[in-house]
Amino acid sequence: MDVTNETKEEQRKLWNNLAGRAWVEAQESLDRLFKPVEDLLVESVGAKSPRQVLDVGCGTGSTTLAVARLLGAKGRCIGIDISEPMIAAAQARAERDRSPARFICADAQTYAFEPAAVDMIVSRFGVMFFDDPVAAFANLRRAARDEAELRLITWRSAAENPFMTTAERAAAPLLPNLPVRRTDGPGQFAFADGQRVSNILSDSGWTEIVLAPIDIACTLPEKQLIRYFTQLGPVGMILQESDDRTRAQIIEAVRPAFDSYVHGAEVRFTAGCWTVTARAGSA
Ligand SMILES: C[S@@+](CC[C@H](N)C(=O)[O-])C[C@H]1O[C@@H](n2cnc3c(N)ncnc32)[C@H](O)[C@@H]1O
Repeated sequence: MDVTNETKEEQRKLWNNLAGRAWVEAQESLDRLFKPVEDLLVESVGAKSPRQVLDVGCGTGSTTLAVARLLGAKGRCIGIDISEPMIAAAQARAERDRSPARFICADAQTYAFEPAAVDMIVSRFGVMFFDDPVAAFANLRRAARDEAELRLITWRSAAENPFMTTAERAAAPLLPNLPVRRTDGPGQFAFADGQRVSNILSDSGWTEIVLAPIDIACTLPEKQLIRYFTQLGPVGMILQESDDRTRAQIIEAVRPAFDSYVHGAEVRFTAGCWTVTARAGSA
């Protein structure tokens, strides 16, 4: 297996196992936490009235469902994600809501989309995990009509998102096997470097590329904080497979590190993101 295939397999495994299960379990609180991000995407869809929207790395489907609600009978929204448990959760939500949203469980980098069918592509934090981002965005370009719009929200750097790395910094002395965050390969901060993102998009057939930094205020109930860091992110991944003693030690070491974010019953932080817009260039 070459390095690229290994990376791809790692991501597929991660999102179909530990990370996927954690995101399904935490679906309600994550959707509340990242609702402001979703609102920005839904607003941008509302401004364009597209007929067909694709939500990439749609996870448990909140944004796909929100876009489908907005479009009503005038359009449709399809979500694609590599994670079976997350797509199963999304489909169950769509059935419950009687939503016309449709979900595909597949790798967006290689899936054989209907060519030139989509007017708009959106993603809330779902495009940073491709092992070959140029190939992935070229595939998405083929799914898009000429002039279709791309609207992504991605994380900026780890340094601009200290909340996101608080748990691993505090837990590091106790967890020597914590994986190192990468910015040159798939991962949460893979799109930190704006120039790299611009190059990926221009090399894959997108034009009029604009990256704008945006700081988004996010809140979480304090009573969910321990669950949040013991379930998600690199520390959460390790704790899912740790014994009760290790878990208790980590909670004791990590919880105080979040003190500056806690305001009474609420945890407040700023998500340092990019809004990325681009247009499908002529094929
Ligand atoms: C951080 S989660 C975001 C999920 C969702 N957009 C949300 O905001 O709730 C990233 C998502 O990207 C998905 N993903 C990762 N690699 C993918 C790929 N190659 N093709 C499709 N989805 C992928 C993961 O399974 C996961 O659901």
